[in-house]
Amino acid sequence: MSTPRDIAAIIAEAASILGRGGVVAFPTETVYGLGAAAVNVAAVRRVFAVKGRPADHPLIVHIAGVDALDDWARAIPDAARELARICWPGPLTLVLPRRSHVSDTVTGGQDSVALRIPAHPLALQLITAAGALVAPSANRFGRISPTTARHVADELGDSIDLVVDGGPCTVGVESTIISLLGVQPVLLRPGAILPAQIESVLGESLARCDGGVRVPGALPAHYAPVTPLELVEHKDLDARLTALATPGGVRLAVLRAGEPPGALRPGVQWVAMPDDAQAYARVLYATLRRVDAAGHERLLVAMPPDRPAWLAVRDRLGRAARAFAVPNRPPQSGGGQETSPNTAAGSDGKRAMVLPGRRT
Ligand code: TXA
Ligand code: MG
Repeated sequence: MSTPRDIAAIIAEAASILGRGGVVAFPTETVYGLGAAAVNVAAVRRVFAVKGRPADHPLIVHIAGVDALDDWARAIPDAARELARICWPGPLTLVLPRRSHVSDTVTGGQDSVALRIPAHPLALQLITAAGALVAPSANRFGRISPTTARHVADELGDSIDLVVDGGPCTVGVESTIISLLGVQPVLLRPGAILPAQIESVLGESLARCDGGVRVPGALPAHYAPVTPLELVEHKDLDARLTALATPGGVRLAVLRAGEPPGALRPGVQWVAMPDDAQAYARVLYATLRRVDAAGHERLLVAMPPDRPAWLAVRDRLGRAARAFAVPNRPPQSGGGQETSPNTAAGSDGKRAMVLPGRRT
């Protein structure tokens, strides 16, 4: 357990690294972010390089207070201020017209900027100390977002300067993204804040993403584990298992809410998932990483219910499954390897540190 003095020292050290143009992973309530000072173009470029992210995919600028909205965005509609007032700090990102000083490197050359105030106390302290931070999820492009400091250190520990450990993320999937650029608000990415909640704040209905903006999370294939993932309706699960059965048995994991149905089958590992949408989202990415590390040949996931609360989980599972059904499947690296975060050396010779302790 970190003491308040430890935490202050950790934040000071992280802010100092960020001030020198470094890259620091830090916790948010959704997933861990890969932070760099949003005003430092060279540092932002390093974030793209570390992730292997195409340069035209914009980043979210993380701020610590609503006052900073006007530093980054212009022509801010009342709807944005109302959503900010009610949902921030929290898992909501707003896309707004950008101010002219905002770098093309941050916005991917678009005339808009994405902004969010995260709800994790360490994130807020870090942004307060270091200034606004760009922070994509701290994983390689196309792969699963990290929900613990260990996930980040395992995947990126060699190439970043520090990992701030704030314990496991409480939400577990990336923020809801709403574009407020047009006449009607548009849902670009579903998350923990549901469309109905946004609609009740705004008093109007949300349009769905039309594919006109570049949102990597909206690519058809994304958020993929290494193990080939297939989504199966509950009623078809047994038949699918029978079809996949071989005399030697396939090493297969099955993610499903509730108890395993019927008899156990050789080679099949049942992974019991929560039957509550929020609890499922919280453990989803860590579960996919565990399946990857266990070296299963395949992963079958029973499709969660088609209900509003499950929108984000179904979206991420759908994109993960499509990574194995279309030619633009992400590269087979980055997930599941085990390295010791405490001994990982940075590319500039610095040690990547995973700091012990839980969120304050
Ligand atoms: O929960 C989250 O949002 C996490 C945590 C770390 O805050 N961050 C995150 O970042 O998921 P990233 O880069 O993995 O996803 C950001 C999404 C991308 O899909 C990006 O294209 C979209 O935000 N985005 C950023 N700026 C945009 C813009 N100007 N217009 C449309 N989409 C934008
Ligand atoms: Mg991401």
